[in-house]
Amino acid sequence: KHKRRESIFLTMNFAKDYFMRIMQTSDEGKSLGLGYFKNRGFNGDTINKFELGYSLDSWDSLEKEATGKGYTVESLNLAGLQSENDKGRKYDRFRGRVMFPIHDLSGRVIAFGARTLKKDGKPKYLNSPETEIYHKSDALYGIFHSKDALRVKDRCYLVEGYTDVISLHQAGIENVVASSGTALTEGQIKQIKRFTNNVTALFDGDAAGLKAAIRGVDMLLEQGLNVRVVRLPDGEDPDSLCASLGGEKFSEFLKQEETDFILFAARLYNDEAKNDPIKKGEKIREVLMSIVKIPDTIQQEIFLKECAEVFQISVEGLAKSLQEIKQKEI
Ligand code: GTP
Ligand code: MN
Ligand code: MN
Ligand code: MN
Ligand code: MN
Repeated sequence: KHKRRESIFLTMNFAKDYFMRIMQTSDEGKSLGLGYFKNRGFNGDTINKFELGYSLDSWDSLEKEATGKGYTVESLNLAGLQSENDKGRKYDRFRGRVMFPIHDLSGRVIAFGARTLKKDGKPKYLNSPETEIYHKSDALYGIFHSKDALRVKDRCYLVEGYTDVISLHQAGIENVVASSGTALTEGQIKQIKRFTNNVTALFDGDAAGLKAAIRGVDMLLEQGLNVRVVRLPDGEDPDSLCASLGGEKFSEFLKQEETDFILFAARLYNDEAKNDPIKKGEKIREVLMSIVKIPDTIQQEIFLKECAEVFQISVEGLAKSLQEIKQKEI
């Protein structure tokens, strides 16, 4: 079992090196892969740091290269580098895509995220399947490259995508990890907590993205993290905004816009409720549902006071409602 895991690590490392070499040296890799990253503004150092690569548009180029170097087809399969058709024929899983290796805490490649280069290619990102070394719900993109900065800055920026992490690093913001588009799991949050208790989530500006992101924060609160948020302009993600503003202005933007999450939610909900008392009641309850997740009761009380001010109601009333919610939860 141990030997098998080791052989999967070796195979993934080989594949990573191969995808990097193909991108730097083959005609197809240079024009499509390297060209793509250069177009996005990623420089050579960034490409090397994140070990970005390209998979040829071919059914068996990785398999041929790997078996030629003594890797077995079985190890390619165990590593999740092959797919299988209905007839049981195996072929390279990643073809004609730019490759983002996903690293574990010690920098070993455990999976790939692979982006299509086609305008409406589906899926946009094809990821590795679960393997003996890759448990999707535990992996946290960027943790290896960001861990030192997480500790030094004592703050973790939380973004959605691979390219957000990479863009911010290139701009000198190195304390950032990506949720990869889903809500963080307990296992992922535990990894962040090894380095810092302070998280700043960068939210998409559009209403739908905002609502989903707000729900995703509950788990962070539950794990005792101090959560701040930054709302990005509509239609921007951290990568696009960082690229258009430049690193310095983007950092200033983050510092300026950073708001405590509970206050952010309270203000947003208070605005939405306008002066409708029924709506306002519902919205207050929603904020209380987040406050109740915070393990520290002193923190809870501080937030109650601030929310009372935002919603223009008494702290006593809020505290009573919070008690009622707590009672129901038990
Ligand atoms: P670009 O469009 O290249 O800038 O990537 P992005 O990171 O901005 O993509 P998007 O905001 O659409 O998605 C955020 C993250 O969600 C991605 O980085 C992926 O981790 C994940 N994701 C997006 N689309 C897919 C998909 O089709 N399949 C899977 N498995 N993950 C996806
Ligand atoms: Mn998306
Ligand atoms: Mn999005
Ligand atoms: Mn993007
Ligand atoms: Mn995005």
